[in-house]
Formats: sequence, structure tokens, C-alpha cells
Amino acid sequence: MVPAQLLAAVSYMTDLIPDGCLYHSWRVALLSQHLASIIAPEIRRDVFYAGLLQEIGSIGAMEHITSYNSLELQVNDPHIKAHPERGAAILDWLPGLAEASALVRSHHEWWNGTGFPDGLAGDDIPLGSQILRLADAADSAGSFENRAAIAKGLRNLAGFTGYAWSSSLWADFVGSTTDTAFYKPFLDKKSLPKLMAQTCKEIAVPDELNNEEGIERILHVVAAMVDLKDPATRGHSIRIARYAKSLAKHMCLSSEDAHLAYRAGLVHDCGRLGLPSHLVNRTGRLSDKELTIVRAHAGMTIRAFNCLPDCPEMVALGEIAGHDHERFDGQGYPDGLTGERIPLISRILSAVDAFDAMNSVRSDRMVSSKAAVIRLQQNAGKQFDPQVVEAMVDLAGLGGFGEELATAA
Ligand SMILES: [Fe+2]
Ligand SMILES: [Fe+2]
Ligand SMILES: [Fe+2]
Repeated sequence: MVPAQLLAAVSYMTDLIPDGCLYHSWRVALLSQHLASIIAPEIRRDVFYAGLLQEIGSIGAMEHITSYNSLELQVNDPHIKAHPERGAAILDWLPGLAEASALVRSHHEWWNGTGFPDGLAGDDIPLGSQILRLADAADSAGSFENRAAIAKGLRNLAGFTGYAWSSSLWADFVGSTTDTAFYKPFLDKKSLPKLMAQTCKEIAVPDELNNEEGIERILHVVAAMVDLKDPATRGHSIRIARYAKSLAKHMCLSSEDAHLAYRAGLVHDCGRLGLPSHLVNRTGRLSDKELTIVRAHAGMTIRAFNCLPDCPEMVALGEIAGHDHERFDGQGYPDGLTGERIPLISRILSAVDAFDAMNSVRSDRMVSSKAAVIRLQQNAGKQFDPQVVEAMVDLAGLGGFGEELATAA
């Protein structure tokens, strides 16, 4: 797995919707690195990664970030107002991205000092953040739906020059829009994944992040985003990762597969990032229509890891993570797979996910760890793989979940 491609998938997750992707952060990243390559090539890489991840702190807001398209709407919603700092804090977990983190922090500063969070003005705002501000505003104004929209978008945005960004940056941006070699694929949604894949290849992540430890940290960022989306289930993803790894080891899977189970656990609920917040936060009964939307999250997990061409390892991780709601009897989703057609690690995730759901304080049907294990046994062969349940009972009896069970209790 390549960290750059994985970061592009994380970026895609911030724009996931049940039937597609809004591509806001991809467009901002591509546009910003294009402008940087012309006016400040030395910051192209930082601007690109900051662009990909600029909105991760906004996960959990009631609406998608692009719905808050005025400064007034942004500062009036505490969640949105906090997203530059929150996003920068999450980026600080990723070695090598300190510069990108600083750019994310300042990507809502305005040239005239009225932006947030620090009220910086003029050249006190890092150039990369100025570029991100302009690209963000241009995409939020719908300027890149097609060629004709660009002219309309530019007319709408011109009035902000001198307020939100400098006149020289505006002139550079307008000049850059004549580069048809970039804009042709950029304006076509169908060619965006290929353009993103090419750009990820061209702009590798810093060496500090370009390793297995880096990949692990990025997957933890995904788990943190899922927590932001639904703070009531905080810690669920990491608990599932730990349980799944312990169980995989206990079932004598190879250490590679146990590690894969850990990684899949971290990201197993990432499709939930694309669900409307009001559905995720609801504790009461859902209507059939709402239930269908919520269930779509499993397919969305698979789609998020399949957002770029030619990334087989990433696709494989998504397939395992996204099939954790299949049932052994074939009554699950998204594909209604049966028995051993469901990947073994997905079957492991399914059992530990149900265990954690029953055992968590959020659940209105919260039961003890022991009772949760009994319920799994009652559903062995129906919802769950009997072999997985047996191993789980065995491991729980041995105190093998030890610390994890204690954390969950
Ligand atoms: Fe933003
Ligand atoms: Fe799920
Ligand atoms: Fe889950």
C-alpha cells in the first residue's frame, strides 16, 4: 500500500455520499498544487497534502462543509469554526506533514484579517494557505462542474479579491485557468481518479511517512475521523482492531493476516463517514428507507478504498472491511455472501463488531461481556461463523481479550 494513495482515499472519505462522492477535497488539492507548481513550486507538495486533508476536522458537522459557503455561516457553527485547528491537530499525528498541518490551520484566514482561527492578515498568512483559501472558495462556488461554470465562478469570486485573497494571487489563478492540459481532465469527473492517481505518483509523501508505520498512522486517522462523526461510539474502531487481531492470532492465522485484521478493524466503519449526520446520531428506530441508507455504509467502505485505479492492496483492505455485515446464512449485506464465501477476516470483524455494539454504553440494549458472548453463541451458524464464535468463547474464557474487554466494559 502506498501512503500517498491512502491519503487520497482518506480525502475521498471526507466527501463520500451514499450514491457517490462530492470530490471537493480532491479538487482543492489538485487545483492548489497546480497553482503552486506555477507560482511557488517549493511548496507544491505541502499544498497538495494540505489540500487533500484540509477538511478532515469538519467531519461530524450537521452538513457537508461546502454547504457553509459564507464566512458568516462558517463562524456561526462552532463545529465548522473549529475545523482548521482540529484538522491540523489530526495531521500532527502524521510524521513529515508538519508544514501541511500549518497550512490546514490557516486555510480559512482572509487577506483582510477577518478570517479564522487566528485573524491573520496579508502576508502573515502562509502562501500555501492563501492558495488553499482561493481553491476552496472556487470549488465551493461550483466553478468546476464544467468549462462554462468556470467563467461564472470566476465572475462570482472576483469581488472577494482584496478581501479574502490578494489581487496578485487572483491574477495568477485566473492566468492558470488557461492551462488546458491540466483543466481538461480536471473538469471531467470520470477522469478525476486517474488524474489523482498520477498526481499521487508525482508527489510522493515525505520519507518520514513513506513506510509501514506511516500507513498504520494514516489508518488511525481514519479511525479518529469515524470517532468525530459519531462521538458516542468513541474508541469503537480501535477496540474492533484489537479484538480482531487477538482473535485472528488465537485462530492461528498468519501474523500478516492478524495484522491485516487489525488494519481492517481500524477502518471497518469508514463508510459511515458518508452518511447524513442526523442518521448517524439517531438512537431511536429508523424507518425502512433510513435503514437502507445506513446499510449503504458497508458498500461505501468498499468504494472508498477502490477510489483510485491500480491499487490492489487498498482494494483488498476495503473488501475485507466492507464485508463485515455479511451474515453466515447469507442474509447480510452488501452482497448477501454466504458461509466461507465471506472473507475469514470479515467474519471475525462481524463477531467482534456485534460484541462491541452489545457491550458499549451507547447501546440501548447494553449487556455484560459474558451475556454478549452468549448471544453470539445463540447466533452461531445464523449471523456468525460458528468456528469464529467458538474461538471467541475460548479466547474470552482464557481471558485472552484481557485489556480489551476491560476497556470495553
Ligand atoms: Fe475548510
Ligand atoms: Fe459497520
Ligand atoms: Fe462497527
